[in-house]
Amino acid sequence: MKLLFIGDIVGQPGRRAVAELLPRLRAQHQLDFVIANGENSAGGSGITPKTAEEIFSAGVDVITSGDHLWDQKEVMELLANEKRFLRPLNYPPGTPGQGCGVFEVQSSKFKAQSPISVGVLNAQGRTFMPPLEHPFLFAHEEVKWLRELTKIIFVDFHAEATSEKIAFARYLDGQVSAVVGTHTHVQTADEQIFPGGTAYLSDAGFTGPHESVLGREIEPVIKRFLTNMPQRFEVAKARVILHGALIEIDETSGKATKIQRVAEAIQSA
Ligand SMILES: [Fe+2]
Ligand SMILES: [Fe+2]
Repeated sequence: MKLLFIGDIVGQPGRRAVAELLPRLRAQHQLDFVIANGENSAGGSGITPKTAEEIFSAGVDVITSGDHLWDQKEVMELLANEKRFLRPLNYPPGTPGQGCGVFEVQSSKFKAQSPISVGVLNAQGRTFMPPLEHPFLFAHEEVKWLRELTKIIFVDFHAEATSEKIAFARYLDGQVSAVVGTHTHVQTADEQIFPGGTAYLSDAGFTGPHESVLGREIEPVIKRFLTNMPQRFEVAKARVILHGALIEIDETSGKATKIQRVAEAIQSA
């Protein structure tokens, strides 16, 4: 099966890129399942039911998140009611929402066979990040029961440090189909398949305006670094690119057979 993961969708330009490009990418690559990180989809900070709906209707099956989870108060509604929305798994027990789920693949390719499901897990790193529960231990426990339901498991590891990302993915090698990193908004060039069959990319990059600093207008960010004074970081506008990773998975074993970086510019900008 073929799965597309889309890196952090930033603001309106990011949502527009997904709406404009995903239908073509779905057809071109005969995608069976699409996952996107939506933590920056509302004005660059957080996510609301409205921005989530826009992303789902563009053809995304599951939305993951990260440290910007709480930026919009309407997220509570998503956490309470939307099964296709995931927050990092390693929040303390009792936190609203869920960190993983099992979803049936709707693709017509598999209609004739018995239905195929995909497990999706979202976790957050702890190095240079707000303190959370242990991502390695929480993910390991969760993957154990997920594997009883499906061998096809995708993990979005939202983290800053490449060492933590690689160690986390190596720890899960052979247990999950893919670990793709998010959060830095910079796409890395280290895509590979580990010996156990887990596809890996340190960071998928971000979907939004690349004439920017990580999706935000350039000048205020420079000013912030020069003066240390707080600035308003508006979402930038130009050079809108969709970043992500395309992964092929053997449905029977759950092992990845291919991983490829994706960078697609929109036509209208
Ligand atoms: Fe982000
Ligand atoms: Fe983040």
